[in-house]
Amino acid sequence: MKITVVGAGNVGTACATEMAEKEIAEEIIILDVKEGVTQGKALDIWQASAIQSFDTRVEGVSKDYSATKDSDVVVITAGLPRKPGMSRDDLIHTNAIIVKEVTENVVKYSPDAILVIVSNPLDVMTYAAFLASGKESSKVFGMAGLLDTARYKSFIAKELNISPKSIHAILMGGHGDSMVPLPRYTTVAGIPVTEFLSDDKLNVIIDRTKKGGTELVNLMGTSAWYAPGAAAAQMVEAIVKNSRRVFPVCAALNGEYGLKDLHLGVPVVLGKNGIEKIIELKLNEAELKLVLNSAKQVKELMKILDDMNIFKKKYGSVNPV
Ligand code: LAC
Repeated sequence: MKITVVGAGNVGTACATEMAEKEIAEEIIILDVKEGVTQGKALDIWQASAIQSFDTRVEGVSKDYSATKDSDVVVITAGLPRKPGMSRDDLIHTNAIIVKEVTENVVKYSPDAILVIVSNPLDVMTYAAFLASGKESSKVFGMAGLLDTARYKSFIAKELNISPKSIHAILMGGHGDSMVPLPRYTTVAGIPVTEFLSDDKLNVIIDRTKKGGTELVNLMGTSAWYAPGAAAAQMVEAIVKNSRRVFPVCAALNGEYGLKDLHLGVPVVLGKNGIEKIIELKLNEAELKLVLNSAKQVKELMKILDDMNIFKKKYGSVNPV
């Protein structure tokens, strides 16, 4: 197995480190435009192999996409991160151009690769990569729900003083303030979370989850990387091991939840073919309303990308809701 990570920034480096330590591939290529730093970061990770005891070879290359040839999975983290005061949406124009160019180059050398998108704003960049790749939508999808769910679970674990390993949950919608944590599908080792937490306490946690990325941007002056990198690595692991794990993933919808022509966070089964199946939950009226509201917000952002006219193809402009 060969995996490429495009972007040697904080998220790309964290993702590559996690995948190397878990030995989920023989080879990891880190590619970035930056000369020197990219090779240096890869070399630093590789030198940890003797301490952490891993065999995965890690190589850094600058701009030379031929080094990524025949990758099985490519993680795209390229693009600018947010600064305090910015929303993820402020990045659309800059990052769409970057994601388009990266995707075209990646596909040229690895036409069969599965693409995992991490660049922000996530749902729109997944759409951009999908259009730029010309690939079927089950092979181009985005990482956000896993990170947002991890934040949600970690807050519940802390509140209850129970291991995060025992918290199970699913979250839907876009990677922004409209995301939809789902308490009805949240359990502590199978026991409904509502038996442990009042509605008020849960609402505080849900609100903190929605603003989870912003909380970190405000603390650090740039966006988070450990959890985002680890989340992307966990998706790659499910693909290369064909483990068919169920994760929330930003996927192209074609009628599921009554939505189409839209990329949105939904639960899927991840395996060697990418998205093996989209799971349709039987949402109640209130939950569906929140998901449709999130879909509407994502669609508005997708229209900004369409209006840039950088792709020949675009989704229908029909509002999904
Ligand atoms: C976050 C960024 C990576 O949510 O979108 O932390």
